[in-house]
Amino acid sequence: MKCNYAHVLLALLVLPGTVVFSHADTNLSAGLDQFLTPPPAREARLHGPLVYGVRPGSPLLYRIPCTGERPVEFRAEHLPPGLTLNPTNGILTGEIQQPGDYPVTLFARNARGGDQRNFCIKVGDQLALTPPMGWNSWYIHFSHVTEATMRHAADAMIASGMADFGYQYVNIDDGWNIKPGNKNSPADLPTRDAEGHLLPNKNFPDIQGMVDYLHGRGLKAGIYISPGPTTCAGFAGSRGHEAADARTFAGWGFDFLKYDWCSYGDHASTKTLDYFQQPYRVMSAELKKQPRDLVFNLCQYGMADVWQWGGEMGQCWRTTGDLGNEHDTDLPGFYHIAFRNAKLSAYARPGAWNDPDYLLLGWVGGSHGSHPTTLTRNEQYSYMSLWALMAAPLIFSGDMDRLDAFTLNVLCNAEVIDVDQDTLGRQGRIFRQTADEYVLVRQLADGSRAVGLFNLSGQTRTVAVPLGELGLAGHPIVRDLWRQQNLGPCNGLLTAEVTPHGVQLLRVQTQNH
Ligand code: GAL
Repeated sequence: MKCNYAHVLLALLVLPGTVVFSHADTNLSAGLDQFLTPPPAREARLHGPLVYGVRPGSPLLYRIPCTGERPVEFRAEHLPPGLTLNPTNGILTGEIQQPGDYPVTLFARNARGGDQRNFCIKVGDQLALTPPMGWNSWYIHFSHVTEATMRHAADAMIASGMADFGYQYVNIDDGWNIKPGNKNSPADLPTRDAEGHLLPNKNFPDIQGMVDYLHGRGLKAGIYISPGPTTCAGFAGSRGHEAADARTFAGWGFDFLKYDWCSYGDHASTKTLDYFQQPYRVMSAELKKQPRDLVFNLCQYGMADVWQWGGEMGQCWRTTGDLGNEHDTDLPGFYHIAFRNAKLSAYARPGAWNDPDYLLLGWVGGSHGSHPTTLTRNEQYSYMSLWALMAAPLIFSGDMDRLDAFTLNVLCNAEVIDVDQDTLGRQGRIFRQTADEYVLVRQLADGSRAVGLFNLSGQTRTVAVPLGELGLAGHPIVRDLWRQQNLGPCNGLLTAEVTPHGVQLLRVQTQNH
């Protein structure tokens, strides 16, 4: 017997008129019949990773992701000394001095019901035990980013509900400091003060206040610079000031640094492996000296097989060029980026992730403000599925002012995010790649497999995978993760009718697990 899931697709469509999330919807003209993620339950439901890494003595800040009607009351059992949980907003703060594993039980309750889950705080030298989740300013504000837009993005991350699913980093990209020779900041304007501290530009009049504002909401703050004399957009870089800049970033309270190669290469004489590693090694060492944790994102587009050594220096490394520049007449660019990134699955592990670049979904940036993506809805579900299967950082880089109901439907499916954040930290492997089909399989901590059946062709197509070839025996339970529905036991063959460029994302669990 085989189970063909095509017939269930129709039955599982969300009924027209169903309210999908309660967020402000700027794109209601779009029909609701293609929304896959069901609305979140009204009861309190806990989400987010099951593990969290922090260094001894570093400030810990974690806003417990939780959906459901407010007010929600939070509680924790076995909290180690040094940590405090705010019962009203679910923000965990404090610091733990002694290395070790601290298993905690988290509870959340509202008027409709409650939830609990285990959460292990691992105090040691590893950060980002699951891929970072958040938002980055680049593809929407480019180098016109301002402090006000960052504060606003943080507000939107909370108001939209994204933070309730685990999005927490609010990251400034290029354009926050002084650009030597720019008309807004003329060449005679110093890029550093007399002591050598980097100076923000006029769009960031109170950068420390901005970071405090983010932290006050339980969110984390990210910043950007280059190891060369200038950044990619021509703003001042860190070259020769790495120690001071690491101190400055930590002093302002940042939690994340993207270090973008760009002009570093202009100073190259020889191109040894050491030459490629050197700038990252230097900054990594400086970050480790700081009294707070900064996740280090190596951005050098995959040069010198960075996946082989990036994990010695940071927590994630870009594997390819800019996704926004990846164009194709047939398959959208994100597929091509995924094809390259997926080949590197062997290198991903907890605290060390392949980074195929940002989630460009929903309303994205252009030279005249933001516009809806040209990707179809099916393609956007595929994009998110690929990133989850590849254990990629989930960093949205679209318009936080236009988080319409569909965009949130793609970004905020707790079961899809659980695949991305799975504790085992194993990136999905390529099971099949033909001109028309792409299948990724990811092993998960509970013994189940996440399976993405992708249709690369322009016509609806049946994609089938023999269970035996996935290493799964018996009569596994198969769950459709986008629709959050069990599809019933399955014998022999996983098969689904998949829309053009679309996906069927399944979790397959053998019953003896
Ligand atoms: C590119 C980088 C982008 C963005 C941009 C800023 O090199 O890949 O993600 O940071 O620079 O100028």
